[in-house]
This record gives sequence, structure tokens and C-alpha cells, in this order.
Amino acid sequence: LGQKLVYKEEVSSTQEEAHKLAGKNEPDGTVVAADKQFQGKGRLDRPWVSASGTGLWFSIILRPDIRPQYAPQLTLLAAVAVTEGITNASGLHPRIKWPNDILLNGKKTAGILTEMQSDPDRVQAVIIGIGLNINHKIDDFPPELQSKATSLALENKGTAFHRADITASVLRSLEYWYEMYLTDGFGAVRRRWEELADTVGGHVRAVSRLKTVEGYAEGITDDGVLLIKQEDGTIEKIYSADID
Ligand code: BTN
Repeated sequence: LGQKLVYKEEVSSTQEEAHKLAGKNEPDGTVVAADKQFQGKGRLDRPWVSASGTGLWFSIILRPDIRPQYAPQLTLLAAVAVTEGITNASGLHPRIKWPNDILLNGKKTAGILTEMQSDPDRVQAVIIGIGLNINHKIDDFPPELQSKATSLALENKGTAFHRADITASVLRSLEYWYEMYLTDGFGAVRRRWEELADTVGGHVRAVSRLKTVEGYAEGITDDGVLLIKQEDGTIEKIYSADID
């Protein structure tokens, strides 16, 4: 991974840049990184705060030969890789919140956005966008995010990290898990995700635009869907939601 690295000081969104490059046949593992994004994109059409100097914003083009329905597996894979990459480089121990928020002490320190380009039955490219809050001070977050967001430095008594070290560690761990996935399939990734995730094995509330589902989070399926067992025993499949 990252054999081909495109670094830009400022872009609208590395995700958009990666989409353009993926359309031009750039190879599996191409990474687009930036110091600052004008229009960082989060999940569910939310903005992603991406100022200069504080974090690292990058998108990776992967080309696994899989059916489109399995693309969410790569999101869960990325969550495992980001979590382990952060631990290896910093000694901090983040936890995952379904599907792919990376939390330290219950506050979000990294987010992952997965998009794809695909034919009806084959994936052409999966584009994994990773936003890492590394050296933010609390005032670097807008007031409405200050109780929900954090950075590695804030959880490390304010001591800053080298952004390149954290990024290299995350890419190494992505490469490790991606190779394992290509050779052995999703099983090991899913087991590791379940170990690192706080969402599974407890009571949760999944809120989406359409409805709210409450119950016991039993686990995830092979296509990355969260299974919630409701009080009446029925199992609900959650494809996209926010978890309380
Ligand atoms: C989330 O909502 O949690 C996902 C956030 C993803 C942000 C990253 S930063 C790099 C890449 N470029 C974007 O515009 N978004 C992703």
C-alpha cells in the first residue's frame, strides 16, 4: 500500500481526488493524502473538520475482486487497521464504535468513510477515506464538537505526535490486514473487529432517518450489517445508523 502516494498541501477532499484517480485506473493501494481539506466529507453527508497542521486526511484506492455487497467488509477492515495502527505508534488503545468510529475515552479520534465504484456484480474500486485527529488542541474543534471529539495528543496529556509516524503505522497495519483478507477472507478481520468494538455484546440504540431500533447488539454479519435483538426476540438488521 502507498507504493504510489499523491500528497497535496490543500485539496477540496482527498476522497474526491481518489475517485478521480480510481476512474483513471490508478493501481490497488494508491494513497492520496492532504494537510488540509476545504470540504472534508464525513458519513451521512456530514462535513469533516480538516484544518491544516492538526490531523491527517487521506484516501486509499483498493481493488479487491469482490461483489459490491461485500464492500462494507473493507470498512470494518479499515477500522481494525486504524485502531491497531494507532496503538502501535502511540501506545493508546482506541475502541471501535459500529460501523467505524474510532474512539478514545468515548470521544471520536478518527473516522472512516468508504465509497465504491462498481459494476452490477464486481467492485472496480473501494475508496477508503480516513481522517485522523492527531495533534488538535480542544479549541481546534468547533464548540459543538468539543464534548464528542478528541485527538491523540489530547488523550496523551497534550504531548504531540509526529503525524508521519502515525500515518505510516496505520498504512502498515492496513497492508497487513488487507493481505490477510485477500488470502484468507473476512473471518479473521471480523473476529478482530468484534474484539476491538464496544458496540457488540451490549444494549444499543440505532437511530436512522427512518426509525430507531433498540436492543441487544448480537454481532455483525459477513456483509458488515449489525444485528440487534429486540425485546420481543426479533432480530433487526441495521445497514446504516448512528449508535447511541
Ligand atoms: C466519518 O464521518 O466518521 C468519516 C470521516 C472521514 C473523513 C476522511 S478525511 C480523508 C477523506 N476525505 C474526506 O473528504 N473524507 C475522508
